[in-house]
Amino acid sequence: MKSISTWLLIGLLLVLAITSQAKPKKTKNKQKQIDGELVKAESCKAANCKLPDCRCSGVTLPRSKFAGQEKEIPQFVTITFDDAVNVVNYAQYELLFNDLTNPDGCPASGTFFLSHEYTDYTRVNALYNAGHEIALHSVSHGDGTDYWRKADVATIEKEFGNQLDILETFAKVDRKSVRGMRLPFLQISGNNTFEAARRLGLTYDSSWPTQQFKDPAMWPYTLDYLSEQDCQIGPCPDASIPGFWVNPMVTWTDLEGYSCSMIDACVYPPEDNIDDLVDWMMENFNRHYEGNRAPFGMYLHAAWFARGRNYFAAFRKFIHKLTTYPDVYLTSISRMLEYVKKPVLGKPFKKCPILPTTECQARQCNVRKVSTGEERYMSVCDKCPTVYPWLDNPLGQ
Ligand SMILES: *[C@@H]1O[C@H](CO)[C@@H](O)[C@H](O)[C@H]1NC(C)=O
Ligand SMILES: [Zn+2]
Repeated sequence: MKSISTWLLIGLLLVLAITSQAKPKKTKNKQKQIDGELVKAESCKAANCKLPDCRCSGVTLPRSKFAGQEKEIPQFVTITFDDAVNVVNYAQYELLFNDLTNPDGCPASGTFFLSHEYTDYTRVNALYNAGHEIALHSVSHGDGTDYWRKADVATIEKEFGNQLDILETFAKVDRKSVRGMRLPFLQISGNNTFEAARRLGLTYDSSWPTQQFKDPAMWPYTLDYLSEQDCQIGPCPDASIPGFWVNPMVTWTDLEGYSCSMIDACVYPPEDNIDDLVDWMMENFNRHYEGNRAPFGMYLHAAWFARGRNYFAAFRKFIHKLTTYPDVYLTSISRMLEYVKKPVLGKPFKKCPILPTTECQARQCNVRKVSTGEERYMSVCDKCPTVYPWLDNPLGQ
């Protein structure tokens, strides 16, 4: 059975596949700048931009004195899943991360960029309590790239701010723990996206793919100064947003040599067998591990696991293999950024993160979506909303 969401996903993947090949495009941003305070970013000089709160874009090591000691820089691996968390993909996430431990004895974790529709908030609460990072991917997911490319600051602030309200109320996620965003279709809207993110108190974005800086790979950086990253899906920002981090999506390479910003956007993956898939993942990983140790991103949608009978097993085998390395850490993006701010050789952290212990009384709700009149099932913590939560009414009152 092909549900609407399957078709939406196929459409999304097509968009990703196409945009990841496209030449940088100049797009005129017609939105008015709401905040007159933004200033144009100047080019970055390392002498003026120092950790922990500023880093120039680029492939240089987090500390210049690490040169020659790359093999002692811990290799971070950031696994992220986008879109709704539901009963089916939650079971896969549990199977993937169960019993996975980093070399320092702390549990391995990932980042979930959540969109609202069809999300099961009791499962979000379980992921949160298990130590995963809950991050934002908008309430509506929009209906195509145009909406996001043209989005003004107020639209983005509403899409992501309302989602914070939803997460706090229905999944018991502390809003202060939510740090990051990824735009649907990876479609940013120049300064607006980042200005909205800053206003919401977020600290990073991970929507911006790079093809040019993959070998050696780009490290995360801040937007105090002008980014040198290639702009694959513009418009890209050129205002200064001090202290705000970009986690660049360093692309993978498929078997025909095309760059893919997410694993599921790779048009020519290997044959559907475990060994070939694991070897391919390892080749992509080794560009980082044997290079400048820039964080290695594994970005995908759970639907990718249904694309081949061995995809899930191969993914699981690969990440299990990574946890046998003495210097590879599978963490959320925000945890990885904590390291990048205060980078050291060897063991990256002194302590394990403290896991939240929120309580969630699961409730199954059947509520009406006001715009279409459809009934929606919704699993939440503690108390059902009156109508299906949406933009401008995130608590569904
Ligand atoms: C971003 O903001 C800067 C500073 O105000 C401005 O010069 C630039 O034109 C803006 N870019 C876009 C795409 O709006
Ligand atoms: Zn999405």
